[in-house]
Amino acid sequence: MTPYDYDYLRKLLRARSGLVLSADKHYLVESRLLPVARKAGLFNLTGLVSKLRGPDSEPLIVEVVEAMTTNESFFFRDKVPFDHFRETIMPALIAARSSSRRIRIWCAAAATGQEPYTLAICLKEMGRELKGWRVDILATDLSTEVLEKAKSGIYSQFEVQRGLPVLMLIKYFTQVGETWQIAPEIRSMVKFQPFNLLNDFAHLGAFDVVFCRNVLIYFDQETKIAVLDRLARVTERDGFLALGAAETVIGLTGAFKPVAEKRGLYAPNPLGTAAYGAGNIVSLSNPARAPVATGAR
Ligand SMILES: C[S@@+](CC[C@H](N)C(=O)[O-])C[C@H]1O[C@@H](n2cnc3c(N)ncnc32)[C@H](O)[C@@H]1O
Repeated sequence: MTPYDYDYLRKLLRARSGLVLSADKHYLVESRLLPVARKAGLFNLTGLVSKLRGPDSEPLIVEVVEAMTTNESFFFRDKVPFDHFRETIMPALIAARSSSRRIRIWCAAAATGQEPYTLAICLKEMGRELKGWRVDILATDLSTEVLEKAKSGIYSQFEVQRGLPVLMLIKYFTQVGETWQIAPEIRSMVKFQPFNLLNDFAHLGAFDVVFCRNVLIYFDQETKIAVLDRLARVTERDGFLALGAAETVIGLTGAFKPVAEKRGLYAPNPLGTAAYGAGNIVSLSNPARAPVATGAR
C-alpha cells in the first residue's frame, strides 16, 4: 500500500463513518482490508484502492467501511451504566411519564446486540412496575452485517460467558447446539435498523434515553461535537444520555451535562450549548429538568 493509497483510505473512512485513523495504523488497515480485497479478486490494497476510485464502487466502499468498524460488545458491559439504568434512569422516567406511560430508548451503536438486549433484560426484570407501559428500544448501527447477527439473537458460549450472569442466561436463553438463542420475548422488545451517526437524526423522533457507548472514541473532536449536539436535539429535556467509560461531553459541548455522582451519565443542559465545563453538573432534583413536549414522537 502506497502512502497515497493509505491517505485515500483515511479520507474515505473519515467521510463515510467518522473513523479517524492516525498515520501509524497501516497494519490495522491491511489486516482488515486484505480479506476484502481478496474477496473482490484483487491482490493487494493498491488494487483495492484503484477499484474504489473507479465507477460502480459503492458496494465495495460499504464493505470497506464495515470491515473497518470495531464491533466488540458484551452483555452488561461495564455494569455501571445498567445500574444507572435500573436505579436512576427508569425510576425518574416512571415518575415523569406516568400519564403517557411510554418510554423510548435508543441504542445508537448497538453492534451485535448485547447492549440493547441487556436493556431489554433489565426492563423485563422490572416486571410488574412496567405493566401497562410501552417501552420501545431502537437499536441502530452503521454495519448491516453486525445488525444481522444482532437480529438473530444467537450467541456463542464465549459471548454469553462475558458479563451475562448465569441466572440471566438460564432465564432468557435457550441452548441450541453450541450456541445460545435469546428468548423471543426479549428479542421482540428490540427493533434493529441501520443508521449512520454522521447522518441527520431528526426522522428518528425524540428519545427519553440514549445509549451511545464506545463509538465516539473512534471519531475526531469535530465529529464528536456534531454527534453530541445532534443527540441533544433528539433527547427529551428530562431524558438521559449514557456514554462509554472512555467518553465524555466535557470540553466538547454544553448541550449535555454530567449527572452528579453517576459516572458516564449525562442530562440535556437547559442552558444550551453556550457554556461547558466540569463544574456544570445537573442534580436529579433540579427543577430545570422539566419534561418538554417535542412533538417529534
Ligand atoms: C465498539 S462497538 C460498541 C458496541 C456497544 N455500544 C458497546 O458499547 O458494547 C462500536 C460500534 O459502532 C459502530 N459504528 C462505527 N461508526 C459508526 C457510525 N458512524 N454510525 C453508527 N455506528 C457506527 C460500529 O459498527 C460498531 O458496531
